[in-house]
Amino acid sequence: MSALSVKPPRGTRDFYPEDLRLRDWLFEHFHHVARRFGFEQVDAPVVEHAELFTRKAGEEIVEQLYHFTMHDRHLALRGEITPSIARMVMARAGGLRMPLRWYSIPQCWRYERMTRGRRREHYQWNMDIWGEPGPDAEAELIAAVCMALERMGLGPADVRIRISSRALVEETLRRDVLRRRPEVFEPLCVMVDKIPKLGADAVVELLSDADGPVALEPPAARQVVELLSAQDLDEIAGAAAPDSAAVAELRQLFDLLGAYGLADWIRFDASVVRGLAYYTGVVFEAFDAAGALRSVCGGGRYDRLLESLGGPAVPAVGFGFGDAVILELLAEKGLVPDLPRELDDVVYAFGTAERPAAAQLAMRLRRDGRRVELVLGRPKLKRAMADADRAGAARIWLLGPDELGRGVAKVRDLATGEERDEKLGD
Ligand code: HAM
Repeated sequence: MSALSVKPPRGTRDFYPEDLRLRDWLFEHFHHVARRFGFEQVDAPVVEHAELFTRKAGEEIVEQLYHFTMHDRHLALRGEITPSIARMVMARAGGLRMPLRWYSIPQCWRYERMTRGRRREHYQWNMDIWGEPGPDAEAELIAAVCMALERMGLGPADVRIRISSRALVEETLRRDVLRRRPEVFEPLCVMVDKIPKLGADAVVELLSDADGPVALEPPAARQVVELLSAQDLDEIAGAAAPDSAAVAELRQLFDLLGAYGLADWIRFDASVVRGLAYYTGVVFEAFDAAGALRSVCGGGRYDRLLESLGGPAVPAVGFGFGDAVILELLAEKGLVPDLPRELDDVVYAFGTAERPAAAQLAMRLRRDGRRVELVLGRPKLKRAMADADRAGAARIWLLGPDELGRGVAKVRDLATGEERDEKLGD
């Protein structure tokens, strides 16, 4: 029989203690910022009914679904949590006090083609606001992203948040190239989202593929790609309706973000359309300033998702912020902290006779709030001291027959080497 592979499935990770310390450090930033903004944490099952995710063909996320049938049920691992959150909102529709501010840190599964920062499993910090239609909600969310990045040591020179509006792009295209075929807007966005990955020419080909869902004439497809290369809101506003609500909303959002003191972080960029079909309004993505990595985070407004699942109309906006890309970026910038194991005390018994007293001492210290390792087995004292030192413990407590006889333990300060006796008490 061949030996079992020690590697986890490709694209997935094991978390050894040092990896988990780093993950906890990152998650602590997510928790901290979400709570600072008054958000409550929620979670949902990793496995859902597949139909929750299989909304529309063409989206990569649907093609990448890990799914299986068991006992006649078609189930899938979540590729994102947004549909589950929508399901939860729908289950209590009417009973929830709006606006809702929910956050979550789900592990998400996508059978991706692996590239740097793109994995088959990742954790994703989500913040979503339900029940608030205006850009005030978008501004809060973008401010939360910036606060998290700042806490990690990153600034506007490292990360840019690019903002656009699907409503604006839709409105503009409907005045022109999509006048007669407004229904192809969603698949068009999914294709345009691939420009950074495939290049503009390949996307023009996709858009003009006569057998594809969009099937534009090649000049119209080129026109779409050109329109979406605008980096200046005034430029695209010129092509929109004079009284465009989407333009007004974007201007309001930029003004608001200015008031938050975030003007340096943000840019208008019409090419941000997002790869998920459900977005309806403002969309945004954060990228490393060098443009070397995939998006650090992405989100936007999805006012029609609940209705598309059969629920009432409730406006919603949110973002997902992955763990993998940000850790790549932090490593590049030398901002990954050194996180040693956290241990305060080590308790060492010289022999079996001193074990009960050592266990009692360890428990007393633990109840006092110290992090305590009771040495197991019978290692030599020298080895136990070296291990305690390596683990970062401040003190080692030694219990031999002499100490036990005197009702004390010897405490050695591992930094200074100083020793003193301490009463064992009751
Ligand atoms: P998304 O753009 O698919 O959006 O993912 C959000 C973030 O998750 C990305 O910017 C990236 O940091 C991370 N991410 C996604 N896929 C991978 C992967 N294969 N490997 C590593 N990291 C990845 C959504 O999922 C939306 N549901 C976000 C949202 C919440 N929109 C509204 N609310």
